[in-house]
Amino acid sequence: MGRAKITVVGAGNVGGTVAQRLAEKNCYDLVLVDIVEGVPQGKALDLMQAGPIYGYDSRVVGSNGYAETAGSAVVVITSGVPRKPGMSRDELLATNARIVQGVVREIAARSPEAILLMVTNPLDAMAHVAHRVSGFPKARVLGMAGVLDSARLRAFVAAELGVSVQSVQAMVLGGHGDTMVPLLRYTTVEGRPIEDWLPKERLEALVQRTREGGAEIVGLLKTGSAYYAPSAAVVEMVEAILKDQKKVLPCAARCDGEYGIRGLFVGVPVKVGRCGAEAIIEYALSPAERTALAASAAAVKELCDIVDRLP
Ligand code: APR
Repeated sequence: MGRAKITVVGAGNVGGTVAQRLAEKNCYDLVLVDIVEGVPQGKALDLMQAGPIYGYDSRVVGSNGYAETAGSAVVVITSGVPRKPGMSRDELLATNARIVQGVVREIAARSPEAILLMVTNPLDAMAHVAHRVSGFPKARVLGMAGVLDSARLRAFVAAELGVSVQSVQAMVLGGHGDTMVPLLRYTTVEGRPIEDWLPKERLEALVQRTREGGAEIVGLLKTGSAYYAPSAAVVEMVEAILKDQKKVLPCAARCDGEYGIRGLFVGVPVKVGRCGAEAIIEYALSPAERTALAASAAAVKELCDIVDRLP
C-alpha cells in the first residue's frame, strides 16, 4: 500500500507551512495546488530538496490544476484571500465563498472519498459551502478553528503560570470569530480547574487575548495573517484522521440537533478518526455557556444565509 495522498489547496502561508509540516512527517505524499503559476511548483521542489537533509522521502508535487489530486484521502483547503489589518473575517465572505465553491467542485469530482478540512475564513461559513457543493456526508467535512483557538488559550495560560503547555488543557467552542466560546470549566492544568490557578480578572484578560488572537497577529504582520499555529492545528487534525486516532478535538462540524443547533457548522468537541467527524460529544454546558454558543451559532447562520443567496 502506498502512502496516503494529501492535497493542500492554496500554496500560501498556511498551505505552504501545512505542506512542510506534513512532508516532515515522512508518512504522506503531498499535492500542492494554487492558482498562481509557478508558486506551488516552486514550493513543491523546495520541499523535495529539503528531504535529504531532514530525512524524508515524502513526494511533493505542485500544480495549477487538479489532475494530480485524484484519489486524495484528505484535502486541506486554504485557498482564499487573507485578512488585512482592521478587516473582519466576515468581510472575506463573498470572495472566499466563490473561491471555495470552485475548488470544492474540482476536488469532489476527483476525490469522491476524501475528507475535506476547511481552513479558509470565515471558517464556519466556508465549511457550510464545502458541504453543500461537495454533497459529501457531513462526517467528511470538518473545519479547523477550535484546535487553534484552544492552543492560543493554552499558550497564554501556560506562560502566565510558568507551566508547560503540555499540562494545560482547554476547549474553545463556537464560531471562529469574536463570538468564540471558551469553556473555562473545562480549562484545566493537570485536572485542576483554571479558576483555582488564576484570579478572575487575569483569566478574563487571557480569554480576551485569545478572542483577538488572530487580529493581534494580523496587526503585527500587516501583510498577512497567522500561519505557524494554524498549520500546526491542521496537522494535528490530519493525523487524527489518517492515523484513526479518535482524538476529541474542538472542530467546526455540522450539528443536527447537538447543542440545540440545527443544520450549521459550529465549533464543537468532535471525535476525529478515519471516518472524519465520527461523533459530536455533548458536554454539559452552564446556562451562560449555552446562551453564548447559541449567539455564536446565530452569527454563523447569518453568514450562511448570505452565502446561500449569493448568485
Ligand atoms: N484556487 C487555488 N488557490 C487560490 C485560489 C483559487 N481559486 N484563490 C486564491 N488562491 C491562493 C492564493 O494564490 C494564495 O497563494 O490561496 C493562497 C492563500 O494564501 P495566503 O494569501 O498566503 O493566505 P494564508 O495566510 O495562507 O491564509 C489562507 O486561511 O487562515 C485562513 O483567513 C485565512 O482565509 C485565509 C486562509
